[in-house]
Amino acid sequence: MRRELGSLTKQWGGGGPGAPPIAVGEAVDGVSAQSLKTKYGSPLYVVSEATLRKNLRGFLSAFRSRYPETVLAYSYKTNYVSGICATLHQEGAWAEVVSGFELERARALGMPGSQIVYNGPYKPFDHLLEAARLGVRINVDNLEELADLEEVSRQLKRPVKIGIRVNMRLNDPPWDKFGFNMESGQALEVCRRIHGSKLLRLAGLHLHAGTYLANVEIYKRAITGLLDLAMTVEAQRLGDIEYVDLGGGYASRNTILSQLLPGEMTAPSYAEYAEAISAPLKACVKRLPRRPLLILEPGRAIVDDAVTLLVSVVAVKKTPDGRTLVVVDGGVNLLPTAYYFRHDVVAGREVEGDSARVDIVGPLCMQIDVLRRDVSLPPVSRGSILLFRNAGAYTVSNSMQFIYPRPPVVVVSGRETHVLRRGERTEDLVRLDEMPAHLAPRSAASSRNGHKTARANGNGRGHS
Ligand SMILES: Cc1ncc(COP(=O)(O)O)c(C=O)c1O
Repeated sequence: MRRELGSLTKQWGGGGPGAPPIAVGEAVDGVSAQSLKTKYGSPLYVVSEATLRKNLRGFLSAFRSRYPETVLAYSYKTNYVSGICATLHQEGAWAEVVSGFELERARALGMPGSQIVYNGPYKPFDHLLEAARLGVRINVDNLEELADLEEVSRQLKRPVKIGIRVNMRLNDPPWDKFGFNMESGQALEVCRRIHGSKLLRLAGLHLHAGTYLANVEIYKRAITGLLDLAMTVEAQRLGDIEYVDLGGGYASRNTILSQLLPGEMTAPSYAEYAEAISAPLKACVKRLPRRPLLILEPGRAIVDDAVTLLVSVVAVKKTPDGRTLVVVDGGVNLLPTAYYFRHDVVAGREVEGDSARVDIVGPLCMQIDVLRRDVSLPPVSRGSILLFRNAGAYTVSNSMQFIYPRPPVVVVSGRETHVLRRGERTEDLVRLDEMPAHLAPRSAASSRNGHKTARANGNGRGHS
């Protein structure tokens, strides 16, 4: 019998370039998969506090060593579990938010307005008013928002400092849904419009060109374009540019489905991104009246490899065409990124036996609930644990409350583990439901049990 897991781990072990290989059976930072499952159940999101901190420090120091006036505003939507955001804030990250809800979360986590960046194509008036009151950096997306901010200024009885979001033709298709276009002159026109308003002050330029951008040339062109605009704004005295914000999009080590090589080999390092951005920045900055703050808004590059999704096998079956399906207890409801990424997967403990090609599928009643196709796994059976790596970006925040309640999120902190979010229970799922009197089940007993209700109401259909 061959020992398969050694090679499996070598082939797919996570941890990023240069990281020590993950030992078989180790879920996160020396804590075993089995002990996590025994304590918290399965499925389970497991966060590595050490990786979060290491990533944030590494990203910031790569930029600050080249351009000291850099701040990192962590993109909340990428994963806004409070304990994750709090860890990153402890390391000095600001918050990048795109809704009133995220703004509230950042405030609740103690972030002052001056360390919050507010983006997004829809900012309701009340949220704009609150953000301006708090001194949040607001990057304007459209003319309607500009008009709203003028009204905000009237209500606050003071001018409001703003940034504008711009877009450029940087990739194909261009990311042109957001902000004002540069090439057409729209962006400069908006700068003039702001200058003409007594109520607003232009203080920043923002551009976010997409997500998982593994080509650093895009960032070179983006910063060069932003600085060109900044120089024009300064030369024409249309504003006083205090910051340039290059958004997020830095690739994680996850692997895109269509990609041949693993993401670990193709994702640029933090230093490569930093070099691509800081070289043009340092060259242009001499022509500006001040060194602008460089704001960066990474999400996936910070959080993706800091989270593992632990799932357990519930069944192994054969399809008529001979494929083996390994059914696990968490699917695209918990790992929606499996639609686009080939997540690394390792078995949760060492087993002997020949490995075989299998499809790993989730528990949802959907044919498309597939986590990995045609992947090599050692023998697994009911109860075996599988660990999906790079499960931190757009997973928890994009997870679906479809059919199954969502599982807990726990963090490994040194040798200890803590719950960051408890698992959902049935009462959480129905807490917001209301029952109009004419629909109320007839007996109190039946209202406590939906299954009985269906029968008590005589519809007799029930669910399979
Ligand atoms: C404005 C803005 N900033 C930052 C991010 C974070 O992107 P990523 O997770 O790819 O770094 C996004 C995500 O789409 C975004 O829209």
